[in-house]
Amino acid sequence: MADTTPFLVIAIDGGAASGKSSTSRALSARFNLMHVDTGSFYRAITFKLLEAGLAPTDEAGVQAALPRLALGTRVDGRTAKMEIAGWTPGEEIRSAQVNENVSRFAAIPAVRKFLLEYQRGQAAVARAHRFAGLVMEGRDIGSVIFPDADLRFFLEASPEARAGRRAAEGQVDQIHERDKLDSTRKTAPLVCPAGAIAIDSTHLSLEQVVGKASELIRAKGLRD
Ligand code: C5P
Repeated sequence: MADTTPFLVIAIDGGAASGKSSTSRALSARFNLMHVDTGSFYRAITFKLLEAGLAPTDEAGVQAALPRLALGTRVDGRTAKMEIAGWTPGEEIRSAQVNENVSRFAAIPAVRKFLLEYQRGQAAVARAHRFAGLVMEGRDIGSVIFPDADLRFFLEASPEARAGRRAAEGQVDQIHERDKLDSTRKTAPLVCPAGAIAIDSTHLSLEQVVGKASELIRAKGLRD
């Protein structure tokens, strides 16, 4: 009998520290979905551009530098990791300096264009590795990258809850500043797209958020 299990594309968007990564990782493990953290892509590009001495105000310089960044993908467990000319980004992309600059580089249209097809191409990577689908987290996944995704979630949480999460991770982050820049940029701003399922996690545990999303994933035909 033919296998009728669908291949699902699940988009998870939301502001900084809204719970996207924990939720995506848990769903990836539960349903054997490839996990794609697009924030880590913008962070890796930011790290490389800073290393090259470029500032986010130098759009022409950034545009000229992008084609020199040879992007690849390595699947590590259930996570798709970006490689840039053989370099696999590590914890250095979570530094205070990257936190401070990433939203400024991410607002540059050439940077977003550079990553657009790479991100869409992750669906083929997930299929090639025989995952049941992919769960991609970011800011514009449900609005721009996969507007036709099978499920589009938008996570929210109060500023206090989000600041508390970052502090618990021991990170210096500029949640408020990044959200402001991400929400107000002209290209692919952070928005809850029409038709997306909004989940406010302020008073929910991770298990409860994952439970809500899991019900809808099962309804689309995937099994735990
Ligand atoms: O998800 P994370 O907080 O690691 O993302 C870092 C930054 O990357 C965001 O603040 C945003 O500026 C940018 N980003 C984006 N679009 C995405 C994912 C991340 O602009 N899809």
